[in-house]
Amino acid sequence: MPAFNTLDDLSADSRVLVRLDLNSPIEDGTPQDNRRFERHAETVRELAEAGHRVVLLAHQGRPGRDDFTSLGGHAEILADRVGRDVGFVADTYGDEALEAIDALDAGEILLLENTRMCDDELPEASPEEKAETEFVRTLAPLFDAYVNDAYSAAHRKHASLVGFPLVLPAYAGRVMETEYEANTAIATREFDGPVTMVVGGTKATDVIGVMDALDDRVDRFLLGGVAGELFLRAAGHPVGRDVGEMDLFDEQWERNRELIESVLDERGDAIRLASDLAYEGPDGERAEVPVDDIGEKETGYLDVGATTVADYEPAIRESDAVFVKGALGVFEDERFADGTVGVLDAIAETNCFSVVGGGDTSRAIEMYGLSEANFSHVSIAGGAYIRALTGEPLPAVETLEAAAERRRD
Ligand code: 3PG
Repeated sequence: MPAFNTLDDLSADSRVLVRLDLNSPIEDGTPQDNRRFERHAETVRELAEAGHRVVLLAHQGRPGRDDFTSLGGHAEILADRVGRDVGFVADTYGDEALEAIDALDAGEILLLENTRMCDDELPEASPEEKAETEFVRTLAPLFDAYVNDAYSAAHRKHASLVGFPLVLPAYAGRVMETEYEANTAIATREFDGPVTMVVGGTKATDVIGVMDALDDRVDRFLLGGVAGELFLRAAGHPVGRDVGEMDLFDEQWERNRELIESVLDERGDAIRLASDLAYEGPDGERAEVPVDDIGEKETGYLDVGATTVADYEPAIRESDAVFVKGALGVFEDERFADGTVGVLDAIAETNCFSVVGGGDTSRAIEMYGLSEANFSHVSIAGGAYIRALTGEPLPAVETLEAAAERRRD
């Protein structure tokens, strides 16, 4: 178990500063409701119902990008999910924010403006340096406690993530606790039977790094998506190349070629590759082709085929634990969802310990009406999940642990 304090350790009637991760897809300037709101709502509701004064920090997008917006819309969605009012102030630590914080009553909730609109937030620096910023020095004295619930942003050394826990008693929120436990399970838990990892998605570079790092923890890898095609390419099939407008394969191939070849060489027995692939037929229908029949890549493949799914299912049924990182096809298009949904269905039918990670893959669960209850954990983390899988430290988690240590001393 992690060595951090949790909400169970929080003193009554506290003024609590809570860091959430509400970073969401933005469409026409509006945040799209997603699992992050629902999950964080539990932490926020628990704090408000306990009578704490609850002030929330969160970020959205990155400066210069289209998704870099105010959090006004986020406050509305969150209020809906929490079932209580969530006030919003378009300021983070200026006079307006300070007045709104001061006016808060027990059980009330206030969301401050996008932390990344503050100059002090972003440049990555040590907790000590971040604790010295005006942002942290202005807000911290107004609170009794800091709660970090933003596991999915814990790989960032930003002021709101590592600065406050240095100067305030610090606690993990409920999302932080459950994400931490599930996402580190692959590295920390002992399983009696085989451990399987489903590897796909478009960010092949990330997942190939995960495969390499988890080499001795995983008994078999079931591949699809871009990484799957790149491994097929390494195995001598003429796929995993860019065709037409595509630019998904060649660059990632060049970058990872040596690693792919060495992983294949050393763990070939543990790696299952697709035996057939799906593509868009001449009339727009789904068509499939055995990999052995592909003479030259002329089309983009968009999913693994039915034979591959049938091949992967028994491996999942025999597993004691299954971790999913990345979709096996372009599931957003119903015609190419069979691979991803087939594998998720197989996992849902077993009693094995299962973690589905990465925002994209977990979206398939919603889209195709699978029940989240059939998985041990559906993660809301992207980059942090990858780092947890590769055993890289998460600075914001380390800072929480250090804060707990200081309190014990
Ligand atoms: C995420 O959405 O994965 C986190 O909020 C981190 O966002 P970032 O990659 O912009 O730091």
